[in-house]
Amino acid sequence: MELAKRLNRLPPYLFVEINQKIAELRARGEEVISFAIGDPDLPTPSHIIEHMCQAARDPTNYRYPETAGLPELRQAIAEWYERRFGVTLNPAKEVLPLIGSKEGIGHIALCFIEPGDMALVPDPGYPPFSLGTILAGGEPYFMPLKEENDFLPDFKAIPAEVADKAKLMWLNYPNNPTGAIAGLDFFEKAVHFAQQHHLAICHDAPYTEIAFDGYKPPSFMQTPGAKKTGVEFHSLSKTYHMTGWRIGMVVGNADMVDALFKVKSNLDSGIPQAIQYAAVEALRGSQEHIAEHNAIFQRRRDKLLKVLNEIGLKARIPKATFYIWAKIPQGYTSMDFTKKLLDEAGIAVTPGTGYGKEGEGYIRLSLTISDDRLEEGINRLSAWHARNCHCEER
Ligand SMILES: Cc1ncc(COP(=O)(O)O)c(C=O)c1O
Repeated sequence: MELAKRLNRLPPYLFVEINQKIAELRARGEEVISFAIGDPDLPTPSHIIEHMCQAARDPTNYRYPETAGLPELRQAIAEWYERRFGVTLNPAKEVLPLIGSKEGIGHIALCFIEPGDMALVPDPGYPPFSLGTILAGGEPYFMPLKEENDFLPDFKAIPAEVADKAKLMWLNYPNNPTGAIAGLDFFEKAVHFAQQHHLAICHDAPYTEIAFDGYKPPSFMQTPGAKKTGVEFHSLSKTYHMTGWRIGMVVGNADMVDALFKVKSNLDSGIPQAIQYAAVEALRGSQEHIAEHNAIFQRRRDKLLKVLNEIGLKARIPKATFYIWAKIPQGYTSMDFTKKLLDEAGIAVTPGTGYGKEGEGYIRLSLTISDDRLEEGINRLSAWHARNCHCEER
């Protein structure tokens, strides 16, 4: 048996050792408090589940789904974009449902990247942006997201020959892992840069509805010229707490949407229809849970930030996403610090380097943890810090 060489180009999975340690601790009966996973602990609202159950009992949904998505779902997605962002989309040509946005993010590289081609990818960034590029035979060019630039890429720092060679540019705001946000002025600059260098933009926006302090993140599609230049990936995972049901969408440039449909229609057979009907209900039904759940995340954010700042893990206050991107003390790598927290406090976080080289010096903590686990985590962090300070003083 000989595996394809492209698999060797995938970077090693950084979390093997950490996951092993967590498994060992748990096997010994020790409880690990995990801030490591960005998977909402709050339930899918019950009216959505009800619709899914009803649709699951309907024999017409036992069969292969429509790969392009139910027309009703495409329409519901277009209506949602109109209501939420004032963006008008043609549901037949500018909307495509996905089996979770990650699936489309991975597959779209096949539409653009030939062997040796480049894609501009944020660092730190959600790993599938670069991994999709690599699997398609291309080369990611990493755009550093620096704190001093508010975690926005500096387009002027990208060499012109790289920008000209690149086919795609990935952006993601509100941002995982940094929690940073971007305004329409930034998106306008991105469109201008993309037009100058004949790039297609893929904006990934699953966190636009997880926002705090009255902030309402914009959609890239609101930008003049966005539809000419790119698409936006979105998801029901975070907004409706539906990560397990696997449903998302891509919207925008009709040629890009069509290209992705060509790839997908040859590789998958669409989203189970009962889940598509659940998504229609999610998008058209009550949106009340969003404010309620954001209030919960905001309360958790404030509690965790307070203790992080007290113990010297400085972090900006994220206006959106359920992530805190905290600076670790000098003298540690992100990985060493992550291991130390796990060994000494039974706390799991994600090392910043899991999202790229520029993540060095940071850890990511997710607020998708129940309130009682959060309290326990906070107590452990304070006690751990007190023990460490005491040792250092002696
Ligand atoms: C930035 C980003 N994009 C996409 C996804 C994937 O979402 P989905 O569940 O729709 O595949 C995630 C999930 O964590 C994410 O953080």
